[in-house]
Amino acid sequence: MQLSGKIALVTGGTSGIGAAAVRRLASEGARVIVVGREGPRLRPSGVPIERTEPIAADVTDPDAIARLMSEVKTRHGRLDVLVINAGVATAPPIQELAPASYEALMGVNCKGAVFTFVHALPLLAEGASVIFVGSVAARKGQPGDALYAGSKGFLRAFARNAGTDPDLLQRRIRVNVVTPGPIDTPLSAAATADPQVRAYVERLIPMGRWGKAEEVAEAILFLGSPASSFTTGAEITVDGGMSHA
Ligand SMILES: NC(=O)c1ccc[n+]([C@@H]2O[C@H](COP(=O)([O-])OP(=O)(O)OC[C@H]3O[C@@H](n4cnc5c(N)ncnc54)[C@H](OP(=O)(O)O)[C@@H]3O)[C@@H](O)[C@H]2O)c1
Repeated sequence: MQLSGKIALVTGGTSGIGAAAVRRLASEGARVIVVGREGPRLRPSGVPIERTEPIAADVTDPDAIARLMSEVKTRHGRLDVLVINAGVATAPPIQELAPASYEALMGVNCKGAVFTFVHALPLLAEGASVIFVGSVAARKGQPGDALYAGSKGFLRAFARNAGTDPDLLQRRIRVNVVTPGPIDTPLSAAATADPQVRAYVERLIPMGRWGKAEEVAEAILFLGSPASSFTTGAEITVDGGMSHA
């Protein structure tokens, strides 16, 4: 098994891509800390209960993240794989953007991601791997997606720089991004409830279908495992060819 004895943490591990990542990392031997806001959702199905540890935290609150990492330190003293996945996609059209809607999206996707990373840094073990979950939205001009796309473009740039930081590389810590295209999850189901929108999105994907959360989890596993030991500041795209069409 590729991750025997490793400690992993997945934010947004309660649903969709995060839950698939929890299952895949656990199946390779990792002990996985599952982070989300609500207690009852913190035990994803399809993974042996003894392989996961639920810890509730709202990533928009840096103090809550600091408490989360302090708890991880007490329990394990280190982290080997950190998957920064928690995200939201709902934002009004740019013409109607207000500070509250800006903060609601950026608070999870950017502030939450950055302070998860920052508070985890002292805990990251020699050779640890950090994976941000981005989106092809950052590469495509999709009307209505400006704020979401901007938040994911921010993560891509942040990871490119953090992934080549000399202090981190001295500790052999790698930082990369997984970039999903349209993936069947509760988040995308909400955004494409209208069948016409769903069909429109499908036509943008050369492979002609939506992706599965499990297909993204495979890329997360690769970046989290020693198999990607020479990869940092990089990005793996899992989008059925969408960003190349
Ligand atoms: N699905 C797609 O088509 C797609 C495409 C590209 C990128 N992505 C990205 O993939 C990631 C996962 O998305 P998904 O599709 O799997 O969505 P999802 O099923 O809606 O899951 C989102 C996760 O984020 C967590 N979360 C949201 N707000 C949070 C907060 N304030 N604090 C802590 N956790 C929070 C949720 O946990 P709780 O609700 O339990 O708190 C949930 O586990 C996101 O970053 C998304 O932008 C998705």
